[in-house]
Amino acid sequence: MRASTLALRAAVIFALCGVGLGIGMAMSKNHLLHNAHAHINLVGWVSLFLFALYYKTNPALDASRVALVQVGSWIFGGALLGLGVTLLYGVGPQYEPFAAIGSLIVFASLLIFTYIIFRPQASSSVRPGAAPAE
Ligand code: HEM
Ligand code: HEM
Repeated sequence: MRASTLALRAAVIFALCGVGLGIGMAMSKNHLLHNAHAHINLVGWVSLFLFALYYKTNPALDASRVALVQVGSWIFGGALLGLGVTLLYGVGPQYEPFAAIGSLIVFASLLIFTYIIFRPQASSSVRPGAAPAE
């Protein structure tokens, strides 16, 4: 599977959870989980959508293993972070390690993305004026 496809599919699932939680908070007038809502939407929906757009501009990278690992680890870490923060604020502090481990995995994924952006061939992989893929 292409990295952009995985990122977009996961982004939509995060959006369903994040927006669902937002509506739940608004209806119940209980904003206790606003942190979880913010991170599920921003780390899940928005960031993954942006990764997908970036990988779409670069078909070779989109098909690469490193991009798939970057997106996969972001999804796993983001899900753990979202779940951890939800349980931390909704149930109790014993769930903090989930959020902590999730955030470290998201950070590791960000390091992989930093490597992708800074590696020498990154600038030459999108040719100006090239026809868009697909
Ligand atoms: C139907 C959709 C949504 C509803 C009903 C909703 C509802 C809410 C509610 C009730 C709060 C808590 C406000 C507070 O206590 O201060 C909140 C906070 C927040 N929402 Fe949403 N939201 C929705 C969609 C989104 C989306 C799509 C995003 C991001 C892409 C988003 C980002 C945030 C952020 C960052 C906060 C935290 C603000 C803060 O507390 O500092 N929301 N939302
Ligand atoms: C993955 C590692 C991350 C960790 C550990 C983390 C942690 C935190 C913490 C501790 C707060 C303060 C909460 C409070 O004072 O109640 C916060 C707030 C916030 N973070 Fe993050 N964050 C992370 C990633 C991100 C990313 C990637 C984004 C955006 C793309 C983001 C957007 C926000 C926003 C908008 C707020 C303020 C909204 C709120 O307080 O509900 N965070 N974050």
